[in-house]
Amino acid sequence: MSDDSRPSPTTPRAEARTAVVIPAAGRGVRLGPGAPKALRALNGTPMLIHAVRAMAASRAVSLVVVVAPPDGAAEVKSLLDAHALPERTDFLIVPGGAERQDSVKLGLDALPPDYDIVLVHDAARPLVPVDTVDAVIEAVRDGAPAVVPALPLADTVKEVEPASAAGDPEPVVATPERARLRAVQTPQGFDRATLVRAHETVTGHVTDDAGMVEQLGLTVVVVPGHEEAFKVTRPLDLVLAEAVLARRRLNDGF
Ligand code: C5P
Repeated sequence: MSDDSRPSPTTPRAEARTAVVIPAAGRGVRLGPGAPKALRALNGTPMLIHAVRAMAASRAVSLVVVVAPPDGAAEVKSLLDAHALPERTDFLIVPGGAERQDSVKLGLDALPPDYDIVLVHDAARPLVPVDTVDAVIEAVRDGAPAVVPALPLADTVKEVEPASAAGDPEPVVATPERARLRAVQTPQGFDRATLVRAHETVTGHVTDDAGMVEQLGLTVVVVPGHEEAFKVTRPLDLVLAEAVLARRRLNDGF
């Protein structure tokens, strides 16, 4: 695309194009030994393909950038080629980095210029419904620099002084008021320039991209998340994910 066709800085957000970066370069050690987590199968289809389809299901998404394990870009390319994906969506594959935030940065670096809204979505959340994706995009279009889907917590949360040896009792330091807490999911949505600035300026370990935007002093807003957007982390999550897929197949009648 030529420079002339890029949105100008005054392009209304409602017309801004949306790309998704999917960091999928983690080993997923908490799932146990085996293939990188994103390449594990759920009902016979790799988790990554479910995640890519979940993003491409949104008509607002026109590009998906998959950040592959550093030595797995060719494998990811053949996976994408082997599975049916919407024709209206473009795909790019880039090799990832050592930490999640390195992988996201490499994905951002690969974005063509003509995208003003960026979503970041964990491959480990393969089943997020399209309504959640669309709600995040809409909130960014409405002007929020950063948007996260999130759910209230079922469990009360304690802050502890972590034990030096695993299994030792840990003293409780504080009990935050549960009603004010939210469990944050992905896709997280951003004004592209804001997210790029966050990745260029914020250092130190972070577990989500919105946290980096908070460190810039900007307001991050929360929209309702969805219970099916859970992160596949431990072996039991694989069982739950397959149960969700089975329920969807029943409901869809095929
Ligand atoms: O480890 P965790 O579950 O927090 O990883 C979240 C997402 O970040 C996963 O989709 C994983 O593949 C990705 N990741 C990555 N590069 C890394 C580490 C994690 O793309 N170096």
